[in-house]
Parts: sequence; C-alpha cells; structure tokens
Amino acid sequence: MKSIKIAILAMTALSCAIASSNAFAGDAAKGKAKSATCVACHGANGISMIPMYPNLAGQKEQYLALQLKAFRDGERKNMVMAPMAAGLSDDDIANLAAYYAGLNPAG
Ligand code: HEC
Repeated sequence: MKSIKIAILAMTALSCAIASSNAFAGDAAKGKAKSATCVACHGANGISMIPMYPNLAGQKEQYLALQLKAFRDGERKNMVMAPMAAGLSDDDIANLAAYYAGLNPAG
C-alpha cells in the first residue's frame, strides 16, 4: 500500500514538472505575429536602430519573459515600455520571448 502511494506521488510530481515546462515554452511563430508593434523600436530582426532602445535578438528566453512581466506588472518602471507590455497575456509574453530568443543576435 505504501509503495503505491509513493508511486502515485512520484507520478504526480513528474506530471507537474512536465506541465510546468510546457507552460513555459513559447510558440515563436505566434510571437512573431504579435511582435508587429515591437518592430518600431526594437527593429525587424530584434536589433534596434535607435541607441536608446535595447536589442532583443538572441537574449535569453527566460530573461525576456521576466522583463515583460515586470513591465506589465509595474515592477520594472519605464514610461515607454510599460504601455507596450500592459496588454500582453502570459501566453503572449511566452511567445514573444521564444521568438526574440530565437533570433540571431548578429542581425
Ligand atoms: C515605443 C518604443 C518601444 C516599443 C514599441 C516597444 N519597446 Fe520594448 N523597450 C523600449 C525601451 C525604451 C526599453 C528600455 C526600457 C528601460 O530602459 O527600462 C525597452 C525594453 C524592452 C525589454 C527589456 C530588454 C532588456 O534587455 O532588459 C523587452 C524584453 C522589450 N522591451 C520587449 C518589447 C516587446 C515584446 C515589444 C512589443 C510588444 C516592445 N518591447 C515594444 C521601447 C519600446
């Protein structure tokens, strides 16, 4: 009986781990579609033409997602980026992060 309980616990833990890793993986194609508004400042390939605005191409996926959530949730304050992130869902953010992380940082 005890070993069955342990087996069930182990399976539950494993499926949670798989579910959470899936929840994190964004869809780069959907991210690209969503990036139309980002292009003006961050460039068509995630390389900005404007010195004030950061490049996003090839940046770490997890970092990009965390920054977008921080802008959206008001933890990272920036008058320009906050309104850009305000309307993004968690899925949008995961997709945008996957898209920009997959771009070539060399342009
Ligand atoms: C009007 C210009 C503008 C637009 C449009 C814009 N951004 Fe930004 N973005 C900025 C600026 C300026 C910063 C730097 C903010 C700061 O200094 O904290 C920034 C920062 C970021 C960062 C953090 C980069 C880092 O290295 O920490 C991410 C991620 C980001 N933007 C993603 C996006 C995405 C995704 C979109 C489209 C939904 C978008 N931005 C649209 C101007 C813009």
